[in-house]
Amino acid sequence: MSRSKIGIVGAGAVGTSTAFACLSSGVAREVALYDLNADKVRAEFLDVAHGSMFFEPSSVRGSDDLEVLRDSDIVVVTAGAKPKLGQSRLDVAAINVQILHQIIPQVLKVAPDAIFLLVTNPCDVLTVVAQEVSGLPRERVISAGTLLDTARLRWLLAHRAGGVAESSVHAHVIGEHGDTSFPLWSQASIGPVPVSEFTLPDGTRPFAPESQAAIAQEVREAGWSIVETKGTTNTAIGLASARIARAILRDERVVLPLSIVLEGEWGLRDVALSVPTIVGHRGIEQVLELSVTDEERAALDHSAETIRASVAAIH
Ligand code: 2OP
Repeated sequence: MSRSKIGIVGAGAVGTSTAFACLSSGVAREVALYDLNADKVRAEFLDVAHGSMFFEPSSVRGSDDLEVLRDSDIVVVTAGAKPKLGQSRLDVAAINVQILHQIIPQVLKVAPDAIFLLVTNPCDVLTVVAQEVSGLPRERVISAGTLLDTARLRWLLAHRAGGVAESSVHAHVIGEHGDTSFPLWSQASIGPVPVSEFTLPDGTRPFAPESQAAIAQEVREAGWSIVETKGTTNTAIGLASARIARAILRDERVVLPLSIVLEGEWGLRDVALSVPTIVGHRGIEQVLELSVTDEERAALDHSAETIRASVAAIH
């Protein structure tokens, strides 16, 4: 493990869940939490650190001094305003872009070689801005994007398929991590069986084309049903972030749907959104393209326009 320090900006629910997920899965030798609020970051890092004897050997630190992030290999950005119930993720773009403008140059001073993983919403808009502000190659400024939506979709499909292992559910949500995200139904399968053909023992087809729109809607709304009760989502996104960190630190070259500024792939440029990518030690190593249906193509263009409009509004 040559690259193995994960810095986390923001010791809120998402930042601390990310720290916990990284430590409990043993992906990094060192996890560093940074937050402007000294008391909060101290309390959160101590709470995690007290569990150290239950983790793989690793160290965790927390501070309101940016030095704590020095030489991080990956910096996960979780700080910022959260969309409240009834808001869209895009509604917090302006405030979170301001925060990024402050934080990115400061982090770059202490961690010039880091790969930035944007988790704060709206993560696609922030990816475009973070790449501009940092001037880093695009493969080092990436976002968790629709990996979380993809995990939600696979969970749902696994259950509706009668309890199939999630590792046998092949499906991706792509586009904006937001209200215009959508599953690539044309590529989704349970094992080798296309979802539209998948049949339960009682003869019903849970993923027939007429059910797909409702499932996609359920996945899009999944986060809000949690926010409604607990004010935030944090556990699954923490796990998703740790998964991406592992792919980078271990140079796994795994295929994950992540957001990156596109440079002509999918016929799009100067906009960040999630498409299948190969993730390895350089960050996003390759953006994958494939044939999709006309409907899926239109949905991707709609996502791109939505993100573009939001970026234009804050410029
Ligand atoms: C989520 O999807 C709100 O973006 C957050 O859980």
